This record gives sequence, C-alpha cells and structure tokens, in this order.
Amino acid sequence: MKVVSFANAKGGSGKTTSAALLCSGLCARGYRVSLLDCDPLYPLYDWAVAALPRNATALRVQDANRLATAIKAASPQVDYLIVDLSGASSVMNALSFALSDLVLVPMQGSMMDARGALHTIELITSVAENRRSPVNTSLVLTRVSPMVVTNAVRYATQIVEERSVPFLPIPVLERSAFRDMFSHMTNLVDKDHAAVSNLAKARRDIDRLTDAVASCIDTAAGAALPGRCKH
Ligand SMILES: Nc1ncnc2c1ncn2[C@@H]1O[C@H](COP(=O)(O)OP(=O)(O)O)[C@@H](O)[C@H]1O
Ligand SMILES: [Mg+2]
Repeated sequence: MKVVSFANAKGGSGKTTSAALLCSGLCARGYRVSLLDCDPLYPLYDWAVAALPRNATALRVQDANRLATAIKAASPQVDYLIVDLSGASSVMNALSFALSDLVLVPMQGSMMDARGALHTIELITSVAENRRSPVNTSLVLTRVSPMVVTNAVRYATQIVEERSVPFLPIPVLERSAFRDMFSHMTNLVDKDHAAVSNLAKARRDIDRLTDAVASCIDTAAGAALPGRCKH
C-alpha cells in the first residue's frame, strides 16, 4: 500500500480538490483506494459519500491515534491511501508525513499559498530530521490557467524552489469541472455527466496527474536512499 498525503498550511490551496482528482484517477485504473479526511469540516468525506468511485472507501479521522489505526487497518486491503490534511501544524499532520510514501503540497501561484507551503515544508523537514531519513515531498501548482503564466506564479514558484523541493511536472489546471465536481457531487470518471463542461479534458488531466504521482512514488522507491523524487 502507498500512502499519499496532501498538506499546505494555507486553506484554499487545492488540497481537497487534488485529493479527489487523484482518488478518481487511481480508481479509474482499478486500484483500491481509501480516503482519510482529516479536515474537521470533512469536505472530502462528504464528497465521497455521494460520489465515491467503485473500489474506494472513505473515513473521517479526528486525531493522530485514529490516523495510525486507520493506516494500519487499510494496509492489506488497499493499494493507495490518500490523506487529506487540515492546515494545522498538528501531531496528526506530522504523523501523516512520517507514514507517507509521498507528501504533496498543493499551492496556487500566490504569495499566500507559497508562504503556507513553506510553513508546511518546514514541518516536513523537521519530521525528516527527527526520523533521520528524508520524506518524499513534491509541490503541486494548482488552479493554473491553461493560457498564461503570470508573474505572480513565477515569483511564488521561485520562492519555494529555493528550498529545493521539486514540483510535480504537471500542474492542476483551473477547470470548472474540478469545481463543479463538488457542487454536482460527481467523480468525473465513473459515468458521463452532461452538466460538466470539458469532461474529456478534465479526464485527460486526471490521468496525467495520476501518472505523475505514480512515477513520483516509484522514483523515490527505486532510489538507494528514499528521498525527494527527481523530475
Ligand atoms: N483545479 C481547480 N479548478 C477549479 N477550482 C478549484 C481547483 N482547485 C480548487 N478549486 C476550488 O478552490 C477552492 C479551494 O479548494 P480546496 O480543494 O477546497 O482547497 P483546500 O483543501 O486546500 O482548502 C474550492 O472552492 C475549489 O472548488
Ligand atoms: Mg481541504
């Protein structure tokens, strides 16, 4: 079983949306997926109750003990466990980093998201230092316009790149389908949805995200000393 956590101290950076997209992409490939929603408002769990793809399960998790128990229990039955964390610098987040095969830090191209990402990377670094082995970590640029790269995006990415944490090679584009998935409570991959615009492009993006995440996990797993995946 592979564990993928989504974390950024900044709310609204795209953690929950990206977690739902990855879940959909993995389920479309036939993997068994479990979602652990650690946000006290449980938006991912609520989406999952209504729209969960076949092969997936979802749980609400309130504290570090339950997180550890849920990860242990999922291990024999699940191929991928996706943990959607809240913005808190909590023990639960630190434990999730320590148990993850990959921590994804989604961020929009904005200074506020970049600062949230830096804060999260500091906590990840502290976990890695304490356990004396690196935590495989990658940033993911979210809500990117398919048309233009703004100066704000350039500046924000430069700032976090100074910490030498790589970005996933593909961003998550801004798509109304990705927003509507929570309004229409759909997973975008199971059936056709007349109300969702650009569904084919949305599915293509989900597929690319799934590829990028899978190869990021494989690269780190193949390295002599598991570290940050290199793109
Ligand atoms: N790729 C995207 N395209 C369009 N809207 C998005 C995208 N990612 C996130 N959003 C929207 O941005 C808001 C915050 O996203 P969310 O995933 O809830 O962030 P977080 O979990 O980090 O708080 C939500 O309204 C969501 O619908
Ligand atoms: Mg969220």
